Amino acid sequence: MKSRALNTIRGLAAGLAASAIAAVLAAGFAGPAQASGEAVALPSESWTFDGPFGKFDPAQLQRGYQVYKEVCANCHSMKLVKFRNLAEPGGPGFTEEQVKVLAAEYQVTDGPNEDGDMFERDGKPFDSFVSPFANDNAARASNNGALPPDFSVLVKARPNGANYIYGLLTGYHEEPPHGVELREGMYYNDYFAGHQIAMAPPLSEEAVDYTDGSPMTVEQYARDVVSFMTWAAEPKLVERKRMGLQVTIFLIVFAGLMYFTKKQVWRNVEH
Ligand code: HEC
Repeated sequence: MKSRALNTIRGLAAGLAASAIAAVLAAGFAGPAQASGEAVALPSESWTFDGPFGKFDPAQLQRGYQVYKEVCANCHSMKLVKFRNLAEPGGPGFTEEQVKVLAAEYQVTDGPNEDGDMFERDGKPFDSFVSPFANDNAARASNNGALPPDFSVLVKARPNGANYIYGLLTGYHEEPPHGVELREGMYYNDYFAGHQIAMAPPLSEEAVDYTDGSPMTVEQYARDVVSFMTWAAEPKLVERKRMGLQVTIFLIVFAGLMYFTKKQVWRNVEH
């Protein structure tokens, strides 16, 4: 009886180990397979929000917002983010006053008023980020037929999103590799599927003026804007990690308690 149970457990353990190894191998090989040409492995940046103790850096999120606002927002919308989110705990840490000023830089369409007409007014903290184009067709018409995707959850919509977008922003080549013919209006990028992307390289050295002394390089802009996009896609990421850690610690302590309870309860029973 005992040995049969033991065998079952051994069998289960072997099965688990085998499937774990299979999963690790699959994950290892599946990563760079998305590009159609020769795949280039994604960069692996170290992010402040990595790991179980990961956090967002408010100064970095503020710089990322600046890059988004001054560069990317000319083409990419961010419809699910509201100005007031910029002042919420765990985010870029703007004050309520600063958020009012940031929102008022935009004109939004509101209405209808009593006469049934739509009207323009200054942006307010409860407004969503203002989109650069009236609709998708207008966006395509201005971008050689390609649609700049909305940023709200883009980091989560791409596998390994933060590293992928960082790679995309820093992975342009001035000239395509020998023998590659670029289509009209396309740019060569190491990480975009098929390597031909309709977005011109959006970042260049010193394109955005930082006031906190951070380096004004393409890599730094890319890191900052990707951090900002990651926060926008998952503003509760830090809370989720903290909760996960607490639950894990609780379960470990609880498992220990149960073990000693069981020993205590069965202390005088022959087995
Ligand atoms: C002049 C317009 C323009 C600007 C400015 C711009 N983009 Fe784009 N972006 C596009 C277009 C167009 C596409 C779609 C490209 C395609 O499908 O070939 C795109 C696509 C993307 C994608 C999606 C790639 C994918 O996997 O589908 C990301 C990420 C991106 N842009 C990031 C940025 C960031 C970050 C900035 C600011 C630093 C920025 N873009 C600035 C026009 C722009």
